[in-house]
Amino acid sequence: MTSSEIREAFLAFFEKNGHQRVDSSPLVPGNDPTLLFTNAGMVQFKECFLGTEKRSYVRATSSQRCVRAGGKHNDLENVGYTARHHTFFEMLGNFSFGDYFKHEAIRFAWEFLTETLKLPKEKLWVTVHRDDKESEDIWFNEIGIDQNRFSRLGDKDNFWSMGDTGPCGPCSEIFYDHGEDVAGGPPGTPEEDGDRYIEIWNLVFMQFNRSKNGEMKPLPKPSVDTGMGLERIAAVMQHVHNNYQIDLFANLIDFIAKTLNVSDHSNQSLRVIADHIRSCSFMIVDGVLPGNEERSYVLRRIIRRAIRHGNKLGATGSFFHKLVSALVQEMGEAYPELKAKQAFIEKTLSIEEEQFARTLNNGMKILQSYIEQMNGTVIDGEMVFKLKDTYGFPDDLTADIAREKGLTIDKNKFDELLANQQASGREQGGFKTDYNDTVEVESETEFLGYERLNCEAKVLGILVEGGQVDAVTSGTEAAIILDKTPFYAEAGGQVGDKGILLGEGFEFEVQDTVKVQDAFLHKGVVRQGTIQISESLEATINQQERHETALNHSATHLMHAALREILGEHVQQKGSLVDSQRLRFDFSHPVAVTEEELFKIEKLVNKHIRLNHPVETKLSSIDDAKKLGAMMLFGEKYGETVRVLTMSNFSVELCGGTHVERTGDIGAFKIISEQGIASGVRRIEAITGDSAIEYTQKQGWLINQLASSLKTDRLSLSEKVEQLIVKSKSQDREIEKLKSKISSSQGSDLLSLQIKVGDVSVLATKVDGVDTKTLRALSDQVKNKLGSGVIALAAEVDGKISLITGVTKDLTPKYHAGNLMKALSEKIGGRGGGRPDMAQGGGSDLAALDSALAWVKDWVSAQK
Ligand code: ALA
Repeated sequence: MTSSEIREAFLAFFEKNGHQRVDSSPLVPGNDPTLLFTNAGMVQFKECFLGTEKRSYVRATSSQRCVRAGGKHNDLENVGYTARHHTFFEMLGNFSFGDYFKHEAIRFAWEFLTETLKLPKEKLWVTVHRDDKESEDIWFNEIGIDQNRFSRLGDKDNFWSMGDTGPCGPCSEIFYDHGEDVAGGPPGTPEEDGDRYIEIWNLVFMQFNRSKNGEMKPLPKPSVDTGMGLERIAAVMQHVHNNYQIDLFANLIDFIAKTLNVSDHSNQSLRVIADHIRSCSFMIVDGVLPGNEERSYVLRRIIRRAIRHGNKLGATGSFFHKLVSALVQEMGEAYPELKAKQAFIEKTLSIEEEQFARTLNNGMKILQSYIEQMNGTVIDGEMVFKLKDTYGFPDDLTADIAREKGLTIDKNKFDELLANQQASGREQGGFKTDYNDTVEVESETEFLGYERLNCEAKVLGILVEGGQVDAVTSGTEAAIILDKTPFYAEAGGQVGDKGILLGEGFEFEVQDTVKVQDAFLHKGVVRQGTIQISESLEATINQQERHETALNHSATHLMHAALREILGEHVQQKGSLVDSQRLRFDFSHPVAVTEEELFKIEKLVNKHIRLNHPVETKLSSIDDAKKLGAMMLFGEKYGETVRVLTMSNFSVELCGGTHVERTGDIGAFKIISEQGIASGVRRIEAITGDSAIEYTQKQGWLINQLASSLKTDRLSLSEKVEQLIVKSKSQDREIEKLKSKISSSQGSDLLSLQIKVGDVSVLATKVDGVDTKTLRALSDQVKNKLGSGVIALAAEVDGKISLITGVTKDLTPKYHAGNLMKALSEKIGGRGGGRPDMAQGGGSDLAALDSALAWVKDWVSAQK
């Protein structure tokens, strides 16, 4: 049977047995912040199990697309290492919402497997929860299974929950035995994790709703949720022992192998890539884009993992996005939305690939050379941290590579370093010691960094926290002073360079460079060996960062000139910060810069980028520079001779920083924020180059995504949103009206519950399904209808009791609603009070509520 035939047979079987066939829901669960991704068939029915949603049917069946790559159910790390795990898979399921329970669920499953699919009974193995005698009975006495292929297990295996909260219950699982030639043992044995006995179907007997504090409340009605992995049952039906050999994967893996020129189709990495292209494509279909948070981050991780496996197979360029077409071929018919979004998926993946390629190459080189030289089998936590922190190379990737090579990483150390960094809130490369305070530096450093990115140099001085020393050893933080250097020292808003000092037997990582008097201090950590005074070394800056910083610095000059042209000559620089990520510029301007002005500024800067002016520097006397009209940097002290930097005659500034050669190198300029930081001072942040282009692209895509989700085009988007807001407001009003209608009819119903205490009418009762506001409205109505009497109404709101007491005006001389509230709320572990005619309060002891309400009549009769 092909996978589609199995899918159809399953749905048809349950349809025949009275189940409604329901489409798969998207991977991003609507309105459920407790879940990262749809991880089971039951997710779209959560509310039906909880009893808060009623549908026209009480039995359903579906084939649900699922992702298990984050949160409670996470199989990411297993993909590629077992025959049966996926990040993306399809789950076949049948569901009962308070209709049938264990008997039917077990009977249906057995009938489908042994009669429809005709699986031999002796190949099946069943497990139940240790405390679930009822299911055990059904299996033995009604189904008559073999007691030798049966296990009773605990919560870990046989209690299923969707997430940390939500519907859950004990379960019974059915396993398939792939035969002796596959390694592994029956469930519950130490060898159970092998691929011989594969769980194919899980029958969950939903009975509880787990709340945040771990409390298990019974569901309104016992229900059933089952799940059978389509890929696993297909492997059984197609007589293969590995999910990746089934028809759904065969063509996909052929295509990937061809694209990457791999001849062995059972290669693990091919399987990983095949799995990942499925999950990534479907996540994008369902609106997730790669990024650094939550779902977006999971997507980014999976994409990156796939790329790396591609590289392992020898891929040199980007390839991942090219696989989408083969997936569409395979699954486009079952999932038309996949076909419709093919181009968008390809574009998203291709951008992410490009961005990651650079990071990956760098990091891999460093890690590989580390592994070649390391002793033992544990990769140092510091190395993992450095790769992540300095080179952007993800720690999970390092762990993954370690695992392949039979190594592990020192996770504790890594976590500690990460926690330290976060706790101190310093950015990478920050340095604790302020050498200005502690040290007199007499040395002088010659700066070669305008022309050169590396040079030979000699160590003139070594500073540590305590003062000057003659040598420092591995692991120590220090500042190294050199006779000459290519490292730019922080000045004029431009951050100091980072990089490496390499000498005979030692390595020093420079995390920042600053200038103290005439000496350049290379601040950082000795990574290897010992550094001594007078030693020679080669100093090399991190070229990439320097380059990206230069784009931002040159763009700052263009923006400064543009601000003066668009906003006026009053604009004065008040501060600036330029690093490889962005530029930040503070300037005097009395009011917020308008959107329109920001557009103009952006446009003018981009125009001068395209004009591709040469960026020229010359040394001149300070007086000549002033005559030229050069703008001076804020807070900077200038000597007699200054460096004048010009970009045609559009921008002339005094500046000691490092810049691009021509303005065209900047590529693109995009403002990302404008805000006030002090009275009369504004701050603009902007980005350049690749970052600016990616930013713009992402915004465009986001708009497309929004438009497509709202089924409209870009131009009509705001109109559509406007309509939705209007619609939602009118629905809100409608809901309010309905609520008050309901409460008014409830009000009449409640009247029948009144009793007489002497000749006073007393109504003390619990009201279901209302919030505090409605409860208050209800109490007014009840009082009106009652005409004369004492009331106490209670409702359960978010697990607590909300309470209202009231006394009609004619009776307030004798009965005080506030006093009643005080006494009543004490009985339910809370407090409250109020006026003679009406009081509010609450409590938390739900168990005491009924007797407390019953006591109200005693209170009434006790009042004199
Ligand atoms: N929801 C159950 C599972 O995912 C059926 O295993």
